[in-house]
Amino acid sequence: MKMLVALLLLSMLGNAVEALGEDSKEQCKFKPKLDPRPHSVSIVEFGAIGDGKTLNTGAFQNAIFYLNSFADKGGAQLYVPPGKWLTGSFNLTSHLTLFLEKDAIILGSQDPSHWGITDPLPSYGRGIDIPGSRYRSLINGYNLNDVVITGNNGTIDGQGSYWWDSFLSHSLNYSRPNLVEIVESVGVVVSNLTFLNAPAYNIHPVYCSHVLVQNISAYAPSSSPYTIGVVPDSTDYMCIENSNISMGYDAITLKSGWDEHGIKYGRPTSYVHIKQVNLEASTGSAVAFGSEMSGGISHVLVEQLQIKNSLSGIVFRTGVGRGGYIQNIEVSSVEMENIHTAFNASGQFESHPDKEYDPNALPILDQITIDQVFGVNITVAGSFTGIKNSPFEFTLSEISLELNSASSSSPSSAWVCSDVVGSSKSVFPEPCPELKSSSYSNSFSSSSIATLTSEGLASHI
Ligand SMILES: *[C@@H]1O[C@H](CO)[C@@H](O)[C@H](O)[C@H]1NC(C)=O
Ligand SMILES: *[C@@H]1O[C@H](CO)[C@@H](O)[C@H](O)[C@H]1NC(C)=O
Ligand SMILES: *[C@@H]1O[C@H](CO)[C@@H](O)[C@H](O)[C@H]1NC(C)=O
Ligand SMILES: *[C@@H]1O[C@H](CO)[C@@H](O)[C@H](O)[C@H]1NC(C)=O
Ligand SMILES: *[C@@H]1O[C@H](CO)[C@@H](O)[C@H](O)[C@H]1NC(C)=O
Ligand SMILES: *[C@@H]1O[C@H](CO)[C@@H](O)[C@H](O)[C@H]1NC(C)=O
Ligand SMILES: *[C@@H]1O[C@H](CO)[C@@H](O)[C@H](O)[C@H]1NC(C)=O
Ligand SMILES: *[C@@H]1O[C@H](CO)[C@@H](O)[C@H](O)[C@H]1NC(C)=O
Repeated sequence: MKMLVALLLLSMLGNAVEALGEDSKEQCKFKPKLDPRPHSVSIVEFGAIGDGKTLNTGAFQNAIFYLNSFADKGGAQLYVPPGKWLTGSFNLTSHLTLFLEKDAIILGSQDPSHWGITDPLPSYGRGIDIPGSRYRSLINGYNLNDVVITGNNGTIDGQGSYWWDSFLSHSLNYSRPNLVEIVESVGVVVSNLTFLNAPAYNIHPVYCSHVLVQNISAYAPSSSPYTIGVVPDSTDYMCIENSNISMGYDAITLKSGWDEHGIKYGRPTSYVHIKQVNLEASTGSAVAFGSEMSGGISHVLVEQLQIKNSLSGIVFRTGVGRGGYIQNIEVSSVEMENIHTAFNASGQFESHPDKEYDPNALPILDQITIDQVFGVNITVAGSFTGIKNSPFEFTLSEISLELNSASSSSPSSAWVCSDVVGSSKSVFPEPCPELKSSSYSNSFSSSSIATLTSEGLASHI
């Protein structure tokens, strides 16, 4: 019976990941062809024991080493049945599907010696938490083609409390590991799974193309330091959709390298489409750009977001020394509830990887559009603090934010602006003068905006 279920599931899986369009709007239109892999083995066949205590790193490594021999024969699947499968780090291979059955839980070991150590990413020059090397992620891919991590809502649980405590007590020997890190790969699908308690990031594609993250949930407690859901990093042609992410820090962060290392590596994050996601970010932001953006970030469409209970909604982070750019970004159709700061663009990030950064490397932020945003229980509408010799440029339209009583009584202080230019249309509360260029005349009077606002909000309260 078990075997039959497994075979049925096998037949639902596939391997094809094709090229996507040259437009950020196209990235989520493509749906991979889900042809079954012609070969499949269960992790149990490699001696794994799902009791939550036995360490199964060797079983995962041996199974994948074996399945690698099917890479040129149509690929293969590694099936993980119900159980608690404790493991340290392992590597995936090309043309592989890792399938987690319902009630299958891959548990990350809490012993750092089970994780291995890896070099810093060249675009960062060091680990993100502390200088030097990094712990290897739980599930790794290097230089792969066509890899699928999926299941019937199985779980990957990083048991991150060990790492959070080590981070907070400054006792880490290397920067924290992530749950899934895929490097220099093409054709990556992560779908139909739950991610829990990541040590740091949950899903980290770096220097990748054609990546689909679909129908996942990811949770970490609000107290977990700097945990992030999905981090597209120097990666292009990516879709993130139909997912629920609730994290200690950010839900989704787009990055592309740190100061002189990122400038030298020069690989942007571009053509990313983020769609239909429910996000919570206790101490960070639902969607963040940067602060490491030195390779550039462009052509990103973010739409149909529901953001709740977060410090910030949409943020742009950068600083002197970063270089690079954040350009051609559109954020549209967003509902926000219980958010301290709806929008925050800051050029004052002063963390540097080392002393070699170039103080003349000024980042550029322009062609950024935010439209159709409705928010309730917001304290600060927007904080836009750009860089003196490189002002930010924003276009805002159709925004209505209901401020709470903690907000300052004067609506003009709902916005904080410096070194920013831009234009706005139908924005309530009325933005700062810097964001009201003469090219756009406010087509509504304040009172008609207020009326529109309360009608628009009715359905959101
Ligand atoms: C995983 O891949 C990395 C990079 O290729 C390699 O250094 C490491 O030895 C591999 N680990 C195993 C267990 O194969
Ligand atoms: C989402 O995943 C669940 C199981 O993880 C599955 O039952 C459901 O059909 C998936 N939905 C979509 C739209 O793929
Ligand atoms: C998957 O399981 C998690 C945790 O049990 C649940 O919150 C989530 O809604 C489930 N996802 C789907 C698509 O059924
Ligand atoms: C760092 O290394 C020391 C010495 O090997 C070890 O005792 C300690 O547990 C390590 N710290 C962490 C957080 O792994
Ligand atoms: C997710 O699961 C659903 C239901 O089993 C399946 O139809 C769909 O193809 C899966 N999606 C991906 C991308 O694996
Ligand atoms: C996300 O949450 C919604 C509402 O709670 C639920 O219907 C949906 O199944 C969840 N999706 C996933 C991928 O867990
Ligand atoms: C308003 O949002 C804040 C968080 O910014 C939250 O603490 C508070 O409970 C919310 N108020 C209501 C009435 O939901
Ligand atoms: C905006 O972000 C900066 C950098 O994180 C932070 O220092 C500032 O407090 C934020 N402003 C608001 C109003 O949230």
